[in-house]
This record gives sequence, structure tokens and C-alpha cells, in this order.
Amino acid sequence: MYFFWYRIKQFLRFYLAADTRYQVHSPFVFEFANAVLEDDRWFYAFEDVEAIRRRMLKSDVTLDLTDYGASDKSVTLVQKQVPLRHIVRVAASSAAQGRRLFRLAEWLKPERMLEMGTSVGVGAMYLAAAARDARLFSLEGSEACVHVARANLGILGLNHRADVIHGAFSNTLPGALQALGQADLVFFDGHHRQAPTFSYFEQCLPYVHERSVLVFDDVYWSPEMTAAWEQIKQHPRVTLSIDCYDLAFVFFNPGLKEKQHFRLVPSAWKPWKKW
Ligand SMILES: C[S@@+](CC[C@H](N)C(=O)[O-])C[C@H]1O[C@@H](n2cnc3c(N)ncnc32)[C@H](O)[C@@H]1O
Repeated sequence: MYFFWYRIKQFLRFYLAADTRYQVHSPFVFEFANAVLEDDRWFYAFEDVEAIRRRMLKSDVTLDLTDYGASDKSVTLVQKQVPLRHIVRVAASSAAQGRRLFRLAEWLKPERMLEMGTSVGVGAMYLAAAARDARLFSLEGSEACVHVARANLGILGLNHRADVIHGAFSNTLPGALQALGQADLVFFDGHHRQAPTFSYFEQCLPYVHERSVLVFDDVYWSPEMTAAWEQIKQHPRVTLSIDCYDLAFVFFNPGLKEKQHFRLVPSAWKPWKKW
């Protein structure tokens, strides 16, 4: 209950302070807002992924989940036997988040992507469908989820470009980063604790470059995650951060003269802020 009120309070603070693209002076941030927040083109891939989600929501299958305790989004996920439809409801990226990830990848045109926390593959499907020339490594600790995610990626013919790697992040992250060689887009969506999140962020730094984008889910999930987000924003290598509440983005572009932080919402959320 405490976290519920925490998130409501954080959302109100975020919303009141947020700008739309019309208040942004940076051409780069304006371009980001147009591409990721305002673009309303519809892609066939959206329907494909959502059809798989609907099928999972109707399924009676129960999965044997590995217990990652407080790292998961819901305390109910720590039980061993969990219905697939429950995992889809509480842990998978929403359709709106998926579309945002898709538009980001479509705009960025990454070659090498990494996702930390695959669950049943919803985010991975959106990312891999958007960046058709990219390689995606997606890390997941729960073996049952790995099988479901691989099957889902297979249905969309994406499994030759998207590898789901089984194991705890602490074991799989170093090897995945080494195998990728560079990280153009990284999606952090698992192990929602401050110290591990910051440590995974630091491990990625040797692999990022000036066009890389790191995306964080759930930065208002708990005070710990908000503290991790503050720590990440302050890191000397981060030149720009854009907080869109459900997803938060960091950039390393050295062309941006001084560190900047934005809170952005689509202009439809604040229609009076057009000037
Ligand atoms: C929120 S879900 C990921 C959702 C997915 N990214 C999507 O877009 O649908 C988080 C996942 O991270 C996994 N996870 C959490 N902590 C982990 C850890 N330390 N090592 C490996 N996997 C972990 C959980 O098993 C869970 O499936």
C-alpha cells in the first residue's frame, strides 16, 4: 500500500513539472520527443505482439518460476507455481510501453541491443521487431520464462536475431556485453533495487558510445529505484536524461554542452502547453 501511494505522489509531481515538446529548446530532445512520444504511426508488429499477449492471457498454463524475490515487480511473483496469464498481467511491458520501445528502436536504428529481464518476451518482441538489422541479447533468470519468450520470438520469426540467455544477471551480464562488443540500446527491466541497478549501469558504461541510449523501467517503482535513477542521472558520463515516467532514458552525446535533465509528456497530455 505504501508503494501504491508513493507512485501516485511521484506521478503527480512528475506530471506537474513535465514539459511537452513545445517547451524544449534542444533540437535533439525535440527530435526524440517527435520520434518516441508523438509519433502515432501504427505498425503491423504491434498487432502481432498483442495477439501473442492475448493468447497468453487466455492460457491455463502454469509456470515454475525461479524466485528472484524483491527483484520482481510484484511480491506475488515470488511463489513457485504462477499462472502464465498472471505473469503477463503483472510483469510484461504494457502495449503502450512496447510501442514506445519500438519507436525508440525504430528511430535509433541500433545494431546491438541488450535487455535485462525478458520475462515472457513482450519487450524483446517489440525491440527485435523494430530493429530488423540488430542483434538482441535478452537476459532472464527464470528458466520457464526463457522457454516461453523463445517460443514467442519464434512465432514472429525473430529468434535468429534475438537470443534469450538464461541465468542471474550477475552471471550473464559480463559475457553478454563482451559478446555484443558495444551496446547501442540497453533496456533495464529487472532486479529493481538501487545497488544492483547502479552496478549493472556501471558495467554497461565501457560498452556505450555517443549514440547509445539506456532505458530504465520503473524508476518510480519504489524510493530505492528513484534513488538509483537520481544516481544514474548524476553520473559524469551522462550528458542528457529524459524522464517520461513509465520509461526513463539516458544519453551520452558529448555534443550537448552541459548536462541537462527533462521531464517530458506527449503534448496531448498537456494540450494547453502548446506555446
Ligand atoms: C519486469 S520483468 C521483465 C519484463 C520484460 N522486459 C518485458 O518488457 O515484458 C523482470 C524479469 O526480470 C527477471 N529478473 C529479475 N531479477 C533478475 C536477476 N537478478 N537475474 C536474472 N533475471 C532477473 C525476472 O525473473 C522477471 O522475469
